[in-house]
Amino acid sequence: MADADTLDDQARAILRGNDRGGYTVPTAGLYPYQWNWDSMFAAWGFSTFDVDRAWTEIETLFSAQWDTGMVPHIVFHKVDPGYFPGPDYWGAGRTPPSSGISQPPVAATLARRIFEADPEAGRARLGGLYPKLKGWHRWWRDCRCPTGVAVVTHPWESGRDNCPDWDVGMARVDGSNVGPYTRRDTGHVDPSMRPLKEDYDRYLAILQFGRACGYDQKEILARGPFLMADPAITFILLRAHRDLAWIGRELGEDTAEIEAWATDLEAALPYIWNDALQSYDARDVRTGTFANTLGSGAFLAWYCGLDRPAMEARLKAVWDGVRYGIPSSDPAAPSFDPRRYWRGPTWPVVNALIAMGFADAGRSADAERLRRETVALIEGAGFWEYYDPLDGTPCGGPDFTWTAAIWLAWASPNARGN
Ligand code: SER
Repeated sequence: MADADTLDDQARAILRGNDRGGYTVPTAGLYPYQWNWDSMFAAWGFSTFDVDRAWTEIETLFSAQWDTGMVPHIVFHKVDPGYFPGPDYWGAGRTPPSSGISQPPVAATLARRIFEADPEAGRARLGGLYPKLKGWHRWWRDCRCPTGVAVVTHPWESGRDNCPDWDVGMARVDGSNVGPYTRRDTGHVDPSMRPLKEDYDRYLAILQFGRACGYDQKEILARGPFLMADPAITFILLRAHRDLAWIGRELGEDTAEIEAWATDLEAALPYIWNDALQSYDARDVRTGTFANTLGSGAFLAWYCGLDRPAMEARLKAVWDGVRYGIPSSDPAAPSFDPRRYWRGPTWPVVNALIAMGFADAGRSADAERLRRETVALIEGAGFWEYYDPLDGTPCGGPDFTWTAAIWLAWASPNARGN
């Protein structure tokens, strides 16, 4: 078992090794491009030893921002045939080439943390990013909060691709006419750890709808094949609005508009409270149907300052049902699959966000338990994408950027704040 200093060295080497010059790939092979939220975690990790490189990571990501304000979920800086679907399949027609959907808006929250740790190094960089962050948050407000809470128009937009939260919405997507395609992910990783073919058929059908309408957001919201309210993105966006307002005040800006976005979002939360489940829950916006799932998404409630005692009992059973970290879905549910991507595994990066919420809510014992369990996974197997929460088996891609990043910024015994 490696000691903390050795693991710190390995984590820094992973970030440097996955650096492609101004941006970081999540892992070589499986994900050869710049991913939106992965990059923000990469920046948080870099900030522990190279703050200039941290800000550059964020600036490169925002250089791909669309004129609509959207920051895409993948930026295809250099074409790599080892990934599918690539820039031609997305057909978004942007420079630099990108996908046509977004990803969880953790940027303002992590930019704030990076800035607070070294305000002198960050002030000018943050000032340059602020209007771009605000433009992206306005896009979330206008294009992803049509009735109040945040929705996703594609499971990939949630970042938690095949979690059971999306099953009710995915069941209504017709994936039978997507035409021939070749997956590349299953050539890099054991297919039993990846989404199923029937998932990919539907992912591509939803993508094709967006491509056919030129990623017209009005059309996607009105008639897109998939539209689900996502508690996790709602919680992440609520906190991000507040952190962006904090940044704006720090820069001497008028933040009334951003504060109003946060107030409106908070007021909409009852829509995703599932009384029968006694938890926040994903919901199909087209039918009103709740997903009836418990998982890591609901655990992010504390991350935006929510504390519901009824939910706490439900979620405690989920956490206590496994040995390592917060599982991506309920181990007592029939859909639980401990090694298949978001259908059960624990993700260190999500644990880091949840722990941030626990710490801010004064739940220091929970924050410490989650850190300890995450440390045990990384000490036992190294820096993998995700892990079996029952026995700690490493899963997905190796030498993973965001796992290395959260080690440096949060999990390591040497991390700031521990
Ligand atoms: N997570 C998706 C993939 O596995 C894309 O964001 O390719």
